[in-house]
Amino acid sequence: MPLLTYPGVRPWAKAIRDAVLTRRMPPWFADPRFGHFANDRSLSKNEIETIVEWVDAGAAEGNPKDAPPARAWPAGWSIGAPDAIFEMPEAVRIPAKGTIEYQYVILPTRFTDDKWVEKVEVQPSDRSSVHHAVVYIRESDPTWLRNQPIGRPFSLPANNHRPNPASLTTSDILMVYTPGNSSDGWPRGMAKKIKAGSDLVLQMHYTANGKDVADRTRIGVVFAKEPPMQAVLTLQMGNDKFVIPPGDANFRIAVSGTLPNQATLISLFPHMHLRGKRFEYLLVEPNGRIETLLKVNDYDFNWQLNYRLAQPRVLPAGTRFQWVGYFDNSPNNPRNPDPKAEVRFGEQSWEEMMIGFFDMAVDPKIGKPAFFERKR
Ligand code: HEM
Repeated sequence: MPLLTYPGVRPWAKAIRDAVLTRRMPPWFADPRFGHFANDRSLSKNEIETIVEWVDAGAAEGNPKDAPPARAWPAGWSIGAPDAIFEMPEAVRIPAKGTIEYQYVILPTRFTDDKWVEKVEVQPSDRSSVHHAVVYIRESDPTWLRNQPIGRPFSLPANNHRPNPASLTTSDILMVYTPGNSSDGWPRGMAKKIKAGSDLVLQMHYTANGKDVADRTRIGVVFAKEPPMQAVLTLQMGNDKFVIPPGDANFRIAVSGTLPNQATLISLFPHMHLRGKRFEYLLVEPNGRIETLLKVNDYDFNWQLNYRLAQPRVLPAGTRFQWVGYFDNSPNNPRNPDPKAEVRFGEQSWEEMMIGFFDMAVDPKIGKPAFFERKR
């Protein structure tokens, strides 16, 4: 329901009071004790009190002359008019029942010169069936997925709790779409490079939800007005070697690594499945002191958000990171599909993942593979 006009809001007044008092709305999960985020949409105590007092006093309209000008419910794109749009040439059919392997669709950009992208939005046509969409940038002359069709869906089934080797790539990621995270953009002077001749490779995680549906996802991009000072790379660090015992209410999975070269940290995006309950991004200083960059309490698979640092941070080569996820495989977790299961890494939502994505800005001449070359 759009909450843009008084007649639109009034019937919801009591539900709004409850939603803001319990902080269920607006959706935001960063522990306020750690970090500051540019896209923090949580309400202050004062704002919550104002809303609650207004509802308790009868939710009166006030003077219509003081209202902001009426706006239509935004249609189209939240990033503004895209400079380029890429759409699946045909819809992917999603059956009502059964396990659906990740579907890959290759979309050629047909760019004849290099482009810098400052905003991107992913729009499934059937959001109810899309658990995630990862948009990879596959540069020209690819070795990755070389023999696969263009524009038609295909799959690369995972096997025995390991990713399919054919799905592994050093390609950069343009954006990860999840429920609650449908567009992205980078601070001024930073942008994503799409080289001439690149393809976008969509990895679609569809889940059957009882109805036969079809999805035709499209991607819109807005180009930077001038060449950026820094290029954005989307990196990920995760752990896929774990076994979560049945019934365990607080199973810890950690992963650590060092930054190969100096770079500017821009944003953090935790990803787990239905048993994920908490996620921490930690920076371990040389003296062993630990700084918490982000702590997501009450992780919710239905609200996977990207946390953009209010102040991007320049970090030197050798900076030590540790990401830690906590999982609740007990019957007390209402989202748990099976508390009796021993849970391992897997692509489906009833299996688990522990991945911390993070965006870093680097010298625009450096691509993803070069960033990982360590200088001696
Ligand atoms: C101050 C800002 C907001 C208020 C007052 C508000 C209020 C509400 C209310 C009253 C409900 C119904 C809850 C119920 O069923 O009891 C709701 C649900 C919902 N809201 Fe909001 N909301 C706010 C911000 C947002 C934002 C920023 C988003 C999206 C990014 C959002 C997305 C949703 C969705 C998807 C639902 C339905 C699913 C759910 O209950 O989780 N809301 N909101």
